[in-house]
Amino acid sequence: MASARAKIAAFTFMALIMPRKILVTSALPYANGAIHLGHLVEYIQTDIWVRFQKMSGNECWYVCADDTHGTPIMLRAEKEGITPEALIERVHGEHSRDFAGFGVGFDNYYSTHSPETRECANDIYGRLKAAGLIDVRTIEQYYDPVKQMFLPDRFIKGECPKCHAKDQYGDNCEVCGAAYAPTDLIEPFSAVSGAKPELRNSEHYFFKLSDPRCEAFLRQYTGRANGVLQNEAANKMQEWLGAPGDNKLTDWDISRDAPYFGFEIPDEFGKSTGKYFYVWLDAPIGYMGSFKNLCARNGLDFNEWFKPDSTTELYHFIGKDILYFHALFWPAELQHAGFRTPTKIFAHGFLTVDGAKMSKSRGTFITADSFLQTGLNPEWLRYYFAAKLSNTMEDIDLNFEDFCARVNSDLVGKFVNIASRSAGFIAKRFAGQLAPTDASLPAIKAIQEAAPRIAELYEAREFSKAVREIMALTDGANQYVDSVKPWELAKQEGKESELHAACSNALNLFHLLTILLKPVLPVLAGKVEQFLNIAPLTWNDTQSLLAAGHAINTYEHLMTRIDPKQIEKLIEANRESLAPATEAGAAQAAGQQHSQQRHAEQQQKDSKVKAAAAEIAAEAGSLCSIDDFMKVDLRIARIANAEHVEGADKLVRLTLDIGNDETRNVFAGIKAAYDPAQLIGRLTVMVANLAPRKMKFGLSEGMVLAASDVEGKTPGIFLLSPDSGAQPGMRVK
Ligand code: MSP
Ligand code: ZN
Repeated sequence: MASARAKIAAFTFMALIMPRKILVTSALPYANGAIHLGHLVEYIQTDIWVRFQKMSGNECWYVCADDTHGTPIMLRAEKEGITPEALIERVHGEHSRDFAGFGVGFDNYYSTHSPETRECANDIYGRLKAAGLIDVRTIEQYYDPVKQMFLPDRFIKGECPKCHAKDQYGDNCEVCGAAYAPTDLIEPFSAVSGAKPELRNSEHYFFKLSDPRCEAFLRQYTGRANGVLQNEAANKMQEWLGAPGDNKLTDWDISRDAPYFGFEIPDEFGKSTGKYFYVWLDAPIGYMGSFKNLCARNGLDFNEWFKPDSTTELYHFIGKDILYFHALFWPAELQHAGFRTPTKIFAHGFLTVDGAKMSKSRGTFITADSFLQTGLNPEWLRYYFAAKLSNTMEDIDLNFEDFCARVNSDLVGKFVNIASRSAGFIAKRFAGQLAPTDASLPAIKAIQEAAPRIAELYEAREFSKAVREIMALTDGANQYVDSVKPWELAKQEGKESELHAACSNALNLFHLLTILLKPVLPVLAGKVEQFLNIAPLTWNDTQSLLAAGHAINTYEHLMTRIDPKQIEKLIEANRESLAPATEAGAAQAAGQQHSQQRHAEQQQKDSKVKAAAAEIAAEAGSLCSIDDFMKVDLRIARIANAEHVEGADKLVRLTLDIGNDETRNVFAGIKAAYDPAQLIGRLTVMVANLAPRKMKFGLSEGMVLAASDVEGKTPGIFLLSPDSGAQPGMRVK
């Protein structure tokens, strides 16, 4: 009895001091597009958490990879006249460069097109098949007779069966929001070749998600009580699963026909089946592949981390749009293939810029590379995201005015200021050596006492709360410096030791605050370590102080202020000319919207687009300079849809196609002159960079140009039209 108690005590003690073993992933970005600031929300969030774990002494591995398979990547490579392998290799270089630029410190950044991922995919598939969870069924699907391939839903377009809007994708209508099967489209055509698709039969492999074993497991696994998911995500799962006794799960089609860029599905004898794993089957398996590759290089035991009773922890950071794949398909696969399941799945919200969805024409679809190229400091963005991130699925907004204000005031004005006000005196007057520090100083005690609380906030991904606390402590440190006024002590005779003590205390405060900020600002912290002449800071260092006599190095400026002009340059660099989309561009944009679930999320997101900042009151002078005029972004637009607005007697709701796969919703006061039905399909001119306006009926994202006689002598409204040949997206000037 006594010995059992001793054992339990020993175990608890071990658990407290033994480092945790943690494997962390971020979602694998598609290998056919650039990393943008939206992506970075996720990679920066994950990286901060991982850095915090590592600083706390835990064994933590952070793996990721490019998601390389699927039709869009295949078609994109074809358009570029290169092999898919060459395309994904180039993009791997670009992605690695971008992540490194933002300090995202993967332990392995790999590719799903790897022998390890193939091996794991075959293994998991084989085990699911052995468990009786794979079904083969013949399905009827659209086939492009010109391109000689089966078409994914997003590559079939046609007229919406419900609202009759033209040019809608095969899975749902962007105008009325209806969801349907591609076979419901009126006059369907292939977005790849333009050909009329034919219905053909093909055998597909299904993962039997509807199997009672999967249902039972998922109800338990995703339930609120199990704590794997955030509450809001767990609630969503209940919706997807349906009420108990009413299983809403449907089997998942995991195969695709050739031609496809991916892994061929092996038969029992390892022979060719001519079928390929659907990209979303091998994508999460890419987490395993990347880790397996790391294990081989670092002598880790892969099995220890993935066996069913593993005591290691596994966390997936993802965007809320891919919850379905990570919370249902992936755990069900792992469970029934005899592997461990994720410890927790952390979903985050989407990034908006200045209150609206990122937009290529507004220049707010900002690539990671352009941010670095424009000379902006990536740690500004890391800090800003940290200051906004929480552990919920709420969207976060990058407001540039707020961005400049916060970084300049918090990081430069408050944090760096502590060092810049005290380092010089230590160097000049005290040969770079510190005096004993007063450990009872309230500002120092406050930081040391807050450190465990801030650690908890990092652990809980409550980064904005952590930052708020750290900044309050920074205010405290500045109040201390303001109260002792080193710059005045320096001018007075006989105040040498007071000056020495004041500056040493200030540098100790700075040292402690740097530890707290290090997960967010690794580069800045590295510079501080160099300047303070100390070993890499760990979380434990919050409980110690720099010793008397410790010699520091010369202070060099740690961080500059943001100049709002840099933001203007950044936006300009990202404002894309809306030349008509090339086929490759269209294919890319059609991209990887794979499932209905993802689609439903997308719509939710779109409808949530908030009105941007209030329109800037035009200070109308009588003359307009060419520069002023050029600010107006006039574009050719095709009226993709026009409809009456219930309850509005002047307005028509227009859906404008402005090329590059972008559409705008505009309310135009032209109802008196035009019947909506006649407008569909015609070209006109729109102001594409007008600040969006929230109207009673929805958000208006621009304006179409029309003439009218202000004096009313000639009644009527005359919508502008370009000469024939103009294409949606062309700039008018
Ligand atoms: N390839 C899939 C993921 C496979 S994981 C096994 C994918 N790729 S993605 O490139 O579209 O997105 C990668 C991650 O970035 C996703 O978690 C996605 O939610 C996130 N984000 C992409 N755009 C985003 C914003 N605008 N805002 C926040 N996160 C965003 O999905
Ligand atoms: Zn419709």
